[in-house]
Amino acid sequence: MSRAEHEPDFDPEGAPREANTATVPLAALTRQRARVARPLKHWYVAATSEALRAGPYASTVLGVPMVLFRDAHGQAAALLDRCPHRNVPLSDGQVLKGELQCPYHGWRFDGAGRCTNIPCRVEGPGEAKAREATAFPVREQDGLVWVVPSPGVTPMLEPYRFRLLNEPGYATVSQVVEAEASLYAATENALDVPHTAYLHRGLFRGEGRGIAITAKVRREGYSVACEYIGEPRPPGVVGQLLSPSGGTVTHFDRFHAPCVSEVEYRIGDENHLVVATAMTPVDDWHTRLYAKVSFRLRVPHALVSALLKPLALMIFKQDARVLKRQTDAVARFGGEQFASTELDVMGKHIWRLLRAAEREEPLHDHVVEETVTLMV
Ligand code: FES
Ligand SMILES: [Fe+2]
Repeated sequence: MSRAEHEPDFDPEGAPREANTATVPLAALTRQRARVARPLKHWYVAATSEALRAGPYASTVLGVPMVLFRDAHGQAAALLDRCPHRNVPLSDGQVLKGELQCPYHGWRFDGAGRCTNIPCRVEGPGEAKAREATAFPVREQDGLVWVVPSPGVTPMLEPYRFRLLNEPGYATVSQVVEAEASLYAATENALDVPHTAYLHRGLFRGEGRGIAITAKVRREGYSVACEYIGEPRPPGVVGQLLSPSGGTVTHFDRFHAPCVSEVEYRIGDENHLVVATAMTPVDDWHTRLYAKVSFRLRVPHALVSALLKPLALMIFKQDARVLKRQTDAVARFGGEQFASTELDVMGKHIWRLLRAAEREEPLHDHVVEETVTLMV
């Protein structure tokens, strides 16, 4: 789906949009608003560290095209992907001794965006500000390159740390996948329990064992966590792989605004698994997911790694398909319609935090708690 098809929905305030003639009959059936947030002054993953090995790497974050490369000191750098000279994408160029060279007239830029060389110019590049490429803040950690898609900004929140990467006894599997979905929809999907019994039937949960469990939600500052209490090990393939002997489940779902979902399971004493995903809003309707699954299990890790990836990808394919259908329907109707119940535990909190992150609200002392009962 092209970005242009969605253009009229881009209002971050969720304000009413003009319906085109094709959607006039449908416009009456929808609120003509969309849960699209653009928290621009925050950290997002723009690339894996590995992606910078081969030369310049083009990435888009919240609609901002950027080019990433390693500078002369080996530091990751991110510049606006447009040569200040004649607008050619710098990502079409090459990295020479830690400087990015434009493919058109060969201007060169360092990691801070300074123009260091203009071929054929007797006076050298000079100091002119207009000849500088726009640079973005960059932080490289946990094998990922985080950027802020706003030049010169110091974000109010630190980039997320993947906490089990170097923990003894743990193994980690990484994967990058894409979804045709807004940041909000992709995040809610990652932290939504009720759909697992239906969309992923047989893989996680079955359709109702009639067991009542409690969900305890706590939102504090820019994070929200939901603890599910009293669930026996899910009967599906995934549960059996994680803990063949069964056991009691401790399950937390968390969202760290503006872009990280975390699903944590402990089954019995020995089995622990955390799926942490840094969601990068490529634009309003496309999200790239940088997922890391860290686990310590009784089952041999090599076996789990071999089985986990195909299984996780199969589950993600089901999610990606339904998210695309959701996005397509929102576009067709010119906006969204939400009818929620108490089972939609995380959605409202995710949206609240995304909007707060967009507005940079000082939420640090803000605490909200609630409890919900659901059947699994
Ligand atoms: S357009 Fe880049 S050097 Fe001319
Ligand atoms: Fe899912």
